[in-house]
Amino acid sequence: MEKRRIVVEDLRSQRWFAAPGKPGVAKYYRMNQGGFTTEDHHRKPIIGIIQTWSDFATCHTLFPQRTEEVKRGVWQAGGCPMVMPAMSVSESFVKPSTLMYRNFLAMEAEEIIRSQPVDGVVLMGGCDKTTPALVMGAASMNIPAIYLPAGAMLRGNWHGQTLGTGSSGAQALADYRAGKIDERTYREMVAGTVRSPGTCNVMGTASTMTALVDVMGLTLPGASSIPAVDNAHARMAEHCGRRIVEMVWENLRIGDIVTPASLKNAVVADMALSGSTNSLIHLVAMARRFGLKLDLDDFAAASEAIPVICNLMPAGKYLMEDFYYAGGLLALLKKLQGHLHLTCTTANGKSLGENIVKAETWNDDVIRPLDDPVYPAGGLVVLRGSLAPRGAVLKRSAAEPKLLQHTGPAVVFRNYADLLDRVDDPVLDVKPGSVLVLQDSGPIGAPGMPEWGMLPIPKKLLKAGVRDMVRISDARMSGTYFGTCVLHVSPESRVGGPLALVRDGDPIRLDTEGRRLDLLVDERELEARRQAWQAPPPHYTRGFGWMYSQHVLQADEGCDFEFLARPGATPEPEVR
Ligand code: FES
Repeated sequence: MEKRRIVVEDLRSQRWFAAPGKPGVAKYYRMNQGGFTTEDHHRKPIIGIIQTWSDFATCHTLFPQRTEEVKRGVWQAGGCPMVMPAMSVSESFVKPSTLMYRNFLAMEAEEIIRSQPVDGVVLMGGCDKTTPALVMGAASMNIPAIYLPAGAMLRGNWHGQTLGTGSSGAQALADYRAGKIDERTYREMVAGTVRSPGTCNVMGTASTMTALVDVMGLTLPGASSIPAVDNAHARMAEHCGRRIVEMVWENLRIGDIVTPASLKNAVVADMALSGSTNSLIHLVAMARRFGLKLDLDDFAAASEAIPVICNLMPAGKYLMEDFYYAGGLLALLKKLQGHLHLTCTTANGKSLGENIVKAETWNDDVIRPLDDPVYPAGGLVVLRGSLAPRGAVLKRSAAEPKLLQHTGPAVVFRNYADLLDRVDDPVLDVKPGSVLVLQDSGPIGAPGMPEWGMLPIPKKLLKAGVRDMVRISDARMSGTYFGTCVLHVSPESRVGGPLALVRDGDPIRLDTEGRRLDLLVDERELEARRQAWQAPPPHYTRGFGWMYSQHVLQADEGCDFEFLARPGATPEPEVR
């Protein structure tokens, strides 16, 4: 795409520094106050480095060092780097849910760009929600932006056994609850899953989202596959610093890169990766920030056409480190090239097709050929039916195949506390063919739609050798988890969706082939239950939680705030 290069007078930051009279002069003195000389910033692009490090963000441990490498690149290219810390949204620590704070970080990213003299931004994230959040914020500002993914951790290890973060921990927990391993072994195994800085090393939400923004062209090509501790990661960071300065002069904005075609590429890649179910929510939310339409039907269509060729946990057997050594994302995209829009512009100024022309696969078992896939169709299926009128999602590639067509009686938990209280009760009336239902765990209900969707198998069934059951909720599930878990049921039970009306013993039919999820209860009976239903009291009467509950959209709409997802422009601030 040919765009007019800009000149110094066009720089957004000049509205601050070149403002007539006192306001402009004051900005120079305040830069002096921070130890910057005039030569550091005068008539240079100011590059904001939005940095999601904190001591709690253990996946982003290397970000302070990477920030220095980005800054080095910015200086080399003739820009002036300014670090702008933002909420770290650590998946491991933030409660009640990181999805709730995805919107907080998205707002923060947008407003720290808007309110300060910034010409371009390097977005530093990786741990699950930080990726969509930073992209959503930058999208709403539509300035030049490049994404720097934190990189995945090294392979997990315990007594010589390779372990995946989350996935192997969940398996170890099931074995511990079933009495097959002791607590010490369980603890050692979980510790072994997190060996180094970096994001979870399976194709969980972090790896999925960083890969998808890479596909969309927002990173340097293939950056999402580089392990966090690899020296290539440090060099990629420096290159990001150099490149964002060029992007500013080229006036290559984030909205020039993300288009309907690049979003379609992301959906195709998502299927081939067997990406996290969370990606459906985040991609829809990101698309809306760009004013583009993407809905569950786009995923459903891609899922029919694209097989899973990425053999990574939880759907497969390898880890992100293996993926990098096998050729990484660029090798995978080369295999998918017949399904991709190759003319899409990317952050390095080249097309997607140009970026993958030299890509090679070094291990055909990690990145499979299209005619020898890990799973013959896309990993995710979208279900609709009387229990999910606006949709639900199932990661069929991580489910027990015999459960994909299943009818069974519901065992209902009113909320998560009820689940924890009763799931292991020996008198719970549950059988291997039962369908476990968790209510009140959606965007408003939980609140924040936590990753509770992999409901624990009742202990008495675990001891009998049961390892998977049909589980249904309006919650999400960690991308590192597995099982026949129907998620994101929409509308959620807290707003009176049909999930709220399910009672113990009701027959529920999961028909994955027919893409349906149905509550087999007479409509007159359901209407009577609907009339009698009362919403639980609200969680919040003030603060961010109150604002979130008032404005969050349902899962099929991306769970953004309606006032941020809507079209319209926010004026630039006056500098006077
Ligand atoms: Fe940070 Fe998984 S907990 S990426």
